[in-house]
Amino acid sequence: MDASRSYEVLIGRGLLAGLGQEVRRVCKAEKVAIVSDSNVWPLYGEAVKASLGRAGLEVVRFVFPAGEESKNGTVFLGLVDFLAREQMTRSDCLVALGGGVVGDLTGFASATYLRGIACVQVPTTLLAAVDSSVGGKTAIDLPAGKNLCGAFCQPRLVVCDLDTLDTLPEDIFRDGCAEVIKYGILYDEGLFRHLEEHRLRFDREAVVARCVELKRDVVMEDEFDTGARMKLNLGHTVGHGVEAQSRFTVSHGKAVAIGMAIVARTAAGRGICQPEVRDRIVGILERFGLPVGTAFGTDALYRSALSDKKRSGGRVDLIVPERIGSCKILPTPVGELRTFIEEGL
Ligand code: NAD
Ligand code: GLY
Repeated sequence: MDASRSYEVLIGRGLLAGLGQEVRRVCKAEKVAIVSDSNVWPLYGEAVKASLGRAGLEVVRFVFPAGEESKNGTVFLGLVDFLAREQMTRSDCLVALGGGVVGDLTGFASATYLRGIACVQVPTTLLAAVDSSVGGKTAIDLPAGKNLCGAFCQPRLVVCDLDTLDTLPEDIFRDGCAEVIKYGILYDEGLFRHLEEHRLRFDREAVVARCVELKRDVVMEDEFDTGARMKLNLGHTVGHGVEAQSRFTVSHGKAVAIGMAIVARTAAGRGICQPEVRDRIVGILERFGLPVGTAFGTDALYRSALSDKKRSGGRVDLIVPERIGSCKILPTPVGELRTFIEEGL
């Protein structure tokens, strides 16, 4: 990955055992803080700790309750205060061991603690492997909305051990599938077809590697999200509305699936894409067991979508499919967003 900092993304099986050596290779740390959540630490914490210990690194850990509710200012301040009490220095390193919540929170601490400390991302969900661990977006949620406080900060290395995905509950694996399907709709019909044919039994290594490659290309073109990278928000504006309305009981992946289905229906209705494109998008989401509709009404979704951070003044940039493998940015006056949602519900 080549952005403001270049780094490798290692993808394979059995990688946790060699994590210590990899951390040594990418930074000069003497001490490492593993940050993880209450589900992931019991599964992989000791293995990661042992690997870091074998590489001669001093290890401390910060484990917080699993779930989106923890991606907040209180846990964040608890984490940076812990790092200060442990006297972690600028040359030391954080290891984010977990899904997108752990990755975003640790990444934000890496951007801010001592104005910057190295971070190695070790994603353990499909969503984190294909999306959040790569590209340097870090954030915490505020009471006013999701991801409203954050920074761009690239990690030193991403180590994606596919073995960790074996313990994921199927429902959480499906959440990651929504993001994988998103890459197919945006950029790659071949990937989309592979998913249509193999469903949940897709080739994990090849698909994760392809998604990371696609994300690398877009982040290299537009690291700070002012142009091409915005396309990664396919389904997200309406999706954030669903997440907010459900008070985050609908997961990010499922909300994005609903958002992509709504956008596809409106796009087909307006002649932006053929009806066949809409049917393939809605069809693949259904085959992956993802939702394609919501009981929340137009007004509620519209209100929540308006508070999304992708809004820019009186305009919101919606991402709409033209073909499978190609989408365009549709600048939409805020006043028209309501109709756009209504047409796709
Ligand atoms: P998550 O981190 O909450 O993980 C989902 C659940 O799976 C948690 O309960 C977790 O404890 C558990 N888990 C994780 N790995 C496991 C494993 N290997 N085995 C068993 N259980 C495991 O959620 P997520 O879906 O990984 O990430 C969602 C978050 O990512 C959201 O906060 C979203 O905003 C963020 N996100 C960020 C970016 C970015 O670019 N930074 C992109 C997409 C999403
Ligand atoms: N997940 C969206 C992005 O990285 O831009």
